Amino acid sequence: MPPPFQRHVFVCTNRRPDGHPKGCCATKGADEVRAAFKEELDKRGVKGRMRANAAGCLDTCSFGVSVVVYPEGTWYGGVKVEDVPEIVEQHLMQGRPVERLLMPFSRKEKAEG
Ligand code: FES
Repeated sequence: MPPPFQRHVFVCTNRRPDGHPKGCCATKGADEVRAAFKEELDKRGVKGRMRANAAGCLDTCSFGVSVVVYPEGTWYGGVKVEDVPEIVEQHLMQGRPVERLLMPFSRKEKAEG
């Protein structure tokens, strides 16, 4: 049986060769973003309930660093290290997505939903 994660964060850490037309999240600081999520979750003592994993390309490269939070399926784009405490506190802990960082299609889904 899988662990009962209350929230599961995936951070794209995909790296493409220099000069690739699609770019990649790795060159935008993805490893640091993932490390920041792990650190914030550790600080809050939620190990076993919430987890941040590295992911391959999430196919939203132009919005990188790309992050998706489940079970909601909330997509964040352009995530920087300094945004992580806000996402962890407001969304993961309190259940309120950080609107200003939502990818456009995630925003639309929320508006329609
Ligand atoms: S390289 Fe990160 S979403 Fe594609």
